[in-house]
Amino acid sequence: IDISQFQDDLINWYQENKRDLPWRVEQNPYKIWVSEVMLQQTKVDTVIPYFNKFIDDFPTLYDLASAKEQDVLKAWEGLGYYSRARNLQNAIREVVASYGGEIPANPSDLGSLKGVGPYTKGAILSIAYDQPEPAVDGNVMRVLSRILKVEEDIAKPRTKKVFENHVRELISHVDPSSFNQGLMELGAIVCTPKNPMCMLCPVQQHCQAFAEGIEKQLPIKSKA
Ligand code: ADE
Repeated sequence: IDISQFQDDLINWYQENKRDLPWRVEQNPYKIWVSEVMLQQTKVDTVIPYFNKFIDDFPTLYDLASAKEQDVLKAWEGLGYYSRARNLQNAIREVVASYGGEIPANPSDLGSLKGVGPYTKGAILSIAYDQPEPAVDGNVMRVLSRILKVEEDIAKPRTKKVFENHVRELISHVDPSSFNQGLMELGAIVCTPKNPMCMLCPVQQHCQAFAEGIEKQLPIKSKA
C-alpha cells in the first residue's frame, strides 16, 4: 500500500463527503467527548437530537460537572447504558478538580479518567487535539480488514490491538482527525457490512479485498 496516496485519497474524500454533524461544527474537546460516548452505543441518526439537547442543557464541562446526577441521567433517557453517562460526569468532574477544567491532551492522563477506554481516548486525541492516535471501533476494523486483508477474528478482544497498530502505521500526521473520521465515515457510508459499494470507494485502488474479490468475506467475526 502507498501510504501517502492512501491518506490523501481518504482525507480528500472525507473533506468532500462528510456529513454535517453537530459535533463537527467546532473543534471543542468537551463536545467531541460527549458525542463519542453517545456514538459508542447508538447510531448517528439517533444520537443527533440527544446530543443537541445535552449540549443545550450542559453547554460547557462546568455545567455538566455541577449538574445533579439525576438531571444528567434524565437527559440520557432513551440512549441506554446509563453507566456511560455516570462515568462521563465523574470524569468531567475529575477534569475540573484535577486538571483545571482542561481536558487532558496526553494519552496517559486522558486514559486514566473514568470510562475513557482506548477508543474514546483516541477519538478525543485525534479529533479534538490533532494527534496521530488510533480510534478503532467495529467500523474501522471492518474497513481496515478489507483494505489490508486482515483475517484475524474481530470478535476476539485482542484483535483490536492489531488494528490499532495498523492505524499507527497508516495515520496521517498532517490531519489525524480527518484520517480517523474518514475511516469511520467510509465504514458508515461506503464500506458497509452487507453490500459494500466498492464502485464508489475512494480507496478502492488500495483495497486488497477488492483486488481479490473477497470484500464480502471480511471481516472474519466468530459467533462466540
Ligand atoms: N462514530 C463514532 N464516532 C463518530 C464520528 N466522530 N462521526 C461519525 N460517526 C462516528
